[in-house]
Amino acid sequence: MRCHRGSWIGGCALLFISWNAILVLFLRVKVPEKDATSEDEEALLHVMRVAEMLEAELEAQNKILSHIRSMRPRAKKKAGLTAPDWVVPVLVMACDRVTVRRCLDKLLSYRPSAERFPIVVSHDCGHAATAEVIRSYGNNVTYMAQPDLGDVVAPPEHKKFQGYYKIARHYKWALKQVFAKYKAVIIVEDDLEVAPDFFEYFSATLPLLRSDPNLWCVSAWNDNGRDGVVDPAASALLYRTDFFPGLGWMLLRELWEELEPRWPASFWDDWMRRPEQRRGRQCLRPEISRTLTFGRKGVSLGQFYDKYLRFIKLNSEFVHFTQLDLTYLKPDVYDQTFTERVYAAPIVTMEELQRGALEGDGPFRLQYSSKESFRLFAKNLGVMDDFKSGVPRTGYKGVVALFYRGRRVYLVPPPGWTAYDPTWN
Ligand code: UD1
Ligand code: MN
Repeated sequence: MRCHRGSWIGGCALLFISWNAILVLFLRVKVPEKDATSEDEEALLHVMRVAEMLEAELEAQNKILSHIRSMRPRAKKKAGLTAPDWVVPVLVMACDRVTVRRCLDKLLSYRPSAERFPIVVSHDCGHAATAEVIRSYGNNVTYMAQPDLGDVVAPPEHKKFQGYYKIARHYKWALKQVFAKYKAVIIVEDDLEVAPDFFEYFSATLPLLRSDPNLWCVSAWNDNGRDGVVDPAASALLYRTDFFPGLGWMLLRELWEELEPRWPASFWDDWMRRPEQRRGRQCLRPEISRTLTFGRKGVSLGQFYDKYLRFIKLNSEFVHFTQLDLTYLKPDVYDQTFTERVYAAPIVTMEELQRGALEGDGPFRLQYSSKESFRLFAKNLGVMDDFKSGVPRTGYKGVVALFYRGRRVYLVPPPGWTAYDPTWN
């Protein structure tokens, strides 16, 4: 469609240009010399009138031509925003959980097209029962097995972190396989359940990821997405974030080519969150998570599971993201509108919030001035209080947007914030 439209516009433009060239040629040939007789003068007047008419015509055509020209990039952009034509596989990382079935069943039942979203399951750990479950899906999924099942050489003090080493090795191998064939990938871990509009979300955000060099991922996860801390009426709302969320996320091949040569031996996600890798780039994330994790007993031994992860609310209402205008997420627009909205909100204290003695429906701004005050407020408001390389979870320029007792609250650094402090850990 885009191609046809493009060649039609090109053809029209060419026709107009040729027509104009012929006119110019005609005028040049017909304009007589200066020393003309009175008969010639009449003829000259006639030619001038014709020339004037033609000039008016020419101007009208130029207007049409410039209109056609101005349509060109817009036609392209529109097609790009509504019709992502790439095949984007979902790469499912599996190990020894037979419950990968829950993950695969949801993916298969919500997938709008098998051609556009092939499912590739990458199996580590050599666990026979899990392999059997994956193979039971037949041609609906592609099975591949990570070949190196031995222990990874790790420093002795990291012996207990062997699992993290294996995960990093598996990621490196699996991403290499899929990027040999595809230009974008959505990674899903075996303990994630996806929401009904999971594919719709990634379809709509792929063009944003492709066109914005300051975006390096789109994630389905809201780290602070627990019930009560998100606005239940804002299922269509998306954000930019400086915090890399992971947990159901999409990346492009260019990013993989950049990361692969330096890929770490362990703790790949925290490595991604370091400034050397992130380089000021952001991810998109939803107000209400499009993934939920059911893997209580994971490699990190349920560290956060009981406290936070199990409360994350999974979106249930299908949002037609591809039909929405998502231009508010473009970097310049977002920076201005989000920052304006945040800093226009009246400042409140934690006590006022807790007492519920506030005028109006919000939004409200609660300012933190130190790592300690951030932690204290975060705990009181029910959001995660940790930092990775100085960035709070879901943070955007230091701002954490949350919902508290039915009102929007922005947890913000003082105005004039310039950079994260990596010592806040
Ligand atoms: C946590 C993160 C996870 C990240 C991992 C590595 C959360 C909720 N989870 O893992 O996103 O990838 O740290 O830093 O923050 N796996 C293998 N080989 C193994 C063991 C596991 O491939 O030897 C796979 C699992 O199948 C799963 C993924 O790695 O897809 C994460 O494993 P899991 O056991 O769920 O660990 P988490 O503690 O959740
Ligand atoms: Mn997990």
